Amino acid sequence: MDSIAYHYHQRTKYDPETIANKGKALDWSKQPAPYKEYKIGHSFDLKPYLSQEKDREAQPYDEEWLRLSLFLLCSYGLTAQFQTIYGDPIYLRAAPSAGGLYPAEVYLISRGTNWLPAGLYNYQVATHSLIHFWENTVWSELQAACFKHPVLKENQLALVTTAVFERSAWRYEDRAYRRVFLDTGHLLGNIELAAASNNYKAHCIGGFCDEEINDLLYLDGHTESAIAVVSLLDTNKTSATDFTAPTALPSATVTEYPEIADGQLLHYLHQKTNIDTEPTKIDAARETPSLEDKYNFPFCSKIATITENTIDWGEQLSELENTILQRRSTRSYTGEDLTLEELKSLLNFTYQPQDYVAQGLDGEPDYFALDLVETFIAVSGVQDLEAGCYYYAPQAQELRQIRFKNFRRELHYLCLGQELGKDAAAVIFHTADLTKAIAKYGDRAYRYLHLDAGHLGQRLNLAAIRLKLGVSGIGGFFDDRVNQVLDIPQEEAVIYLTTLGRP
Ligand SMILES: Cc1cc2nc3c(=O)[nH]c(=O)nc-3n(C[C@H](O)[C@H](O)[C@H](O)COP(=O)(O)O)c2cc1C
Repeated sequence: MDSIAYHYHQRTKYDPETIANKGKALDWSKQPAPYKEYKIGHSFDLKPYLSQEKDREAQPYDEEWLRLSLFLLCSYGLTAQFQTIYGDPIYLRAAPSAGGLYPAEVYLISRGTNWLPAGLYNYQVATHSLIHFWENTVWSELQAACFKHPVLKENQLALVTTAVFERSAWRYEDRAYRRVFLDTGHLLGNIELAAASNNYKAHCIGGFCDEEINDLLYLDGHTESAIAVVSLLDTNKTSATDFTAPTALPSATVTEYPEIADGQLLHYLHQKTNIDTEPTKIDAARETPSLEDKYNFPFCSKIATITENTIDWGEQLSELENTILQRRSTRSYTGEDLTLEELKSLLNFTYQPQDYVAQGLDGEPDYFALDLVETFIAVSGVQDLEAGCYYYAPQAQELRQIRFKNFRRELHYLCLGQELGKDAAAVIFHTADLTKAIAKYGDRAYRYLHLDAGHLGQRLNLAAIRLKLGVSGIGGFFDDRVNQVLDIPQEEAVIYLTTLGRP
């Protein structure tokens, strides 16, 4: 029997034969609220610390509050308002989200500092404030739930991102599980970069005792559940240290399960990929990323992507903040070409973080299972680059061509008829061999792969916006047809698409 993550993946594939039965009419009056409300708790307003409102007398610890305020705004804050024909505006956030449904919540845990009392806080996105809903110290519980992860030893602050599943499942049903983790990956991309620009170092923890983290935050683990823990190290106070502990731990591999009804599959998979007790840590040797790129096709054309045109994030990363705050998913492309240099810069920022240390960014951002995620690119309109499908080899920094053909028409179809697929100059496909991933991380691998693909997607998004290009993620595609049409090896499950083009 296939393991549960594999089974889930097969069951939630979109296929031209069955897709017509999947879409049900949405009752917008039943859409779950995208914000969480607390009846009690002390509220800390973060708005006065934003630069435009800084013309007041400096208070002690203003600097700390300013950094935290900017960091949260750039991670998940409201960045745009969109008027609907029904009267109520829709608010968009710093991180993109499939369907604009925003299943993620962000919690802050303080160990207790001079300026931020110990306890649990929820980031209230709608008002850009923190609500302190639990005032006791929970740091030792947090450490225990993370199996004493060393990144929680020295620091004072941590985030937990959670998911309110129904916000996304309401529309996407069981397939929402994929989008929840992709969304969170985008959010983690913002967190990593916004941390660096506000002098924090973000360390991610994906292997934790789910029930203990959920209990700590008063979540039932079913309607809302913890997805990722992020330790924030204040690099103004402590220099970043090298930690060898893994970001990801394995869960069980579940091969015996009953028949699971549609609508229950998402929750079943989530429960079965929980970790209860500390698993054997992945040993250090297996953690070392392979220096070999996975695919090397004999006799294929190879195009070097090494570039001197790294992306310039401005004085003290000021342009990074502007880019995050201005980012929007492009709604249509002109169909015009990108230049090869533009494509090289996009790939450089996304896959070569070591080239950005001099600008103050994290040269080794945390991923969970990045060595298991592969990248293929369908090129339809890039000057000086033959149309076709390429494998991107991140170690060698080159494109390796696997098909010659302009796939515009097919991409339109593969993206469920979305024009974005047809008019994009290039479409990036993130894929993974699920069998291999599950062998290493148990069924929880499914979470890690989607988080990493989303994180890469966010770097592509920000690089594109900085270059004044267009970009949009695509979570809905005909899974197996992508492999067939583009000649992507069958064992590579397609996880996520990012379209790039001229807006
Ligand atoms: C995981 C994911 C999947 C998405 N899938 C699609 C898609 O299939 N089609 C589309 O037009 N936009 C897609 N988007 C873009 C969202 O619609 C967009 O992020 C959302 O409307 C919020 O707007 P913003 O990105 O401009 O803030 C996706 C975004 C994410 C993060």
